[in-house]
Amino acid sequence: MYRTHTCGELTLGDSGKKVTLAGWVQRSRDLGGMTFIDLRDRYGITQLVFNMETDPDLCQKARKLGREFVVQAEGIVAERSNKNLKIPTGEIEIIVERIDVLNTSDTPPFTIEENTDGGDELRMKYRYLDLRRQNVRSNIILRHKMAQEVRRYLDGQGFIEVETPVLIKSTPEGARDFVVPSRIHNGEFYALPQSPQTFKQLLMVAGFDKYFQIVKCFRDEDLRADRQPEFTQIDCEMSYIHQDDILNMFEGLARHLFLEVKGLVFEGPFPRIPYDEAMSLYGTDKPDIRFDMRITELTKAVKGLGFALFDDAPYVGAISAPGCAGWSRKQIDELTEFVRRPQIGGKGLVWARVEADGSVKSSVDKYYTADDLANIALMTGSDAGDLILIMAGPGEKTLSALGELRLEMARRLGLRDSSVYAPLWVVDFPLLEWDDETQRYYAKHHPFTAPKPEDIKYMETDPGRVHANAYDLVINGTEIGGGSIRIHDPETQSLMFRTLGFTAEEAQKQFGFLLNAFRYGAPPHGGIAFGFDRWTAIMGGSDTIRDFIAFPKNNQARDVMIDTPSTIKQEQLDELALDIRKKAQQE
Ligand code: AMO
Repeated sequence: MYRTHTCGELTLGDSGKKVTLAGWVQRSRDLGGMTFIDLRDRYGITQLVFNMETDPDLCQKARKLGREFVVQAEGIVAERSNKNLKIPTGEIEIIVERIDVLNTSDTPPFTIEENTDGGDELRMKYRYLDLRRQNVRSNIILRHKMAQEVRRYLDGQGFIEVETPVLIKSTPEGARDFVVPSRIHNGEFYALPQSPQTFKQLLMVAGFDKYFQIVKCFRDEDLRADRQPEFTQIDCEMSYIHQDDILNMFEGLARHLFLEVKGLVFEGPFPRIPYDEAMSLYGTDKPDIRFDMRITELTKAVKGLGFALFDDAPYVGAISAPGCAGWSRKQIDELTEFVRRPQIGGKGLVWARVEADGSVKSSVDKYYTADDLANIALMTGSDAGDLILIMAGPGEKTLSALGELRLEMARRLGLRDSSVYAPLWVVDFPLLEWDDETQRYYAKHHPFTAPKPEDIKYMETDPGRVHANAYDLVINGTEIGGGSIRIHDPETQSLMFRTLGFTAEEAQKQFGFLLNAFRYGAPPHGGIAFGFDRWTAIMGGSDTIRDFIAFPKNNQARDVMIDTPSTIKQEQLDELALDIRKKAQQE
């Protein structure tokens, strides 16, 4: 037996026991005649102690141990005089009688402690060392726990886990595909799945009824803190259901995870907010409802009062920040700069503050009467001490900028507490999205999403007006999952393809396998997929999914540890009948 105990379990109750531990040397300190070593394994840290007076040889041996050496130590558990109550083993130490070096280590490129001196790139290059750090390891353990609980809940609800292929044909999820050239069929390519969407629908045709899979998906898209080129979904599909059945089933999953992983219970059902309402009240389809500060439209209220900017604007809206009336000129200037950032796209900011006596002072006092301003305060629900921030411009853009400003204010006011969770469903998404560049409609979700039956009549006359039976689960301003009820009858599917500008031949070529399957009795069905990395990150109180993936890519889509993407041998290219263009090679 290498060890009798782990480095995380011995306490005062074990005093006097003879134990053997094995692990890594985290730190070593020489104090007077004593040497102390922090021995670390996956479970924790235990202090080893060596006494120069009682056993000089052993103490000399201990002093030679370098950081990250792997050792086995045998000794007696004793009460510590200088207790560390921050760790579970902090009341004891091991008076070592024998220590063996199981392996040496080069000096690690950064310290393996919670607050390391290693920068991002260095930590990623030596990710196996980074993973030794307690906080990183606990993220991966949290992920494991989430996966187990997902399986426990869904299995308990009668879902069957089915694996679907990774070498497939392009899926219609809207991002760019990663492709894999075929050696056997030169000139032909597989695509890696952006999601198992079409397969899970085929499983419904096959009669599986309730399917799930914790599955890798691949999307060649621009990366952000919450996006990786390969990521994991909890992918689910059900037959013979209505939208409500799905929302209830997966609200159940969310409650189960919050309870089992965080010990949290939510009172009452999760709010369900229609997409249009989310856009007009929060300026986004993924509202953070940990705090209020909703957007109020003022377009009509301020029209024709003589301030040209507002009079002419297609949209005027405001948020009211509680208790911020005292903000300085400088602070407000910073907010103006914030909304003017290119990615926010605002033109500027008008402010009004409600004074202690209820009167309103604003940056546009000369255009408005006291009554006009009082009305704005009333409409935005502002009280004494509140700061009203107003923006004007084209509707969608201004709403989105106000949504960003709302988040920024909340950040500054400390209202985005990562230990508070506010889940909600956003429902009734538009079916289609107009693209100015290509002058055509695209499926907002994917082309198999069912239009709301009452809106089908607008499909050919006013497609932008059609809403879908599509829904997202949003937690703390992050889209955690999304899904829809699917089209299962050929007529609606043809209508959808026509609206998207596909000819019957094109639709057959791309999705023939699915359309054919639908001719053999497809049951009514629908589903959802959750971003597993995102959900885990949120549960861990972070927005950065990379910290919750054992071996992630960096923001250039590179794995700097294994150094990929990388070139392949000429023989491999020859076998695949691929020529690399010179230009690409030089880049
Ligand atoms: P969707 O495209 O909305 O739906 O994806 C589902 C969820 O996956 C997560 N996600 C990502 N996470 C990390 N990195 C990425 N690049 C990334 N892209 C998406 C998000 C998102 O909500 N087939 C449909 C689901 C369905 O209709 O059942 C689908 O894939 O959290």
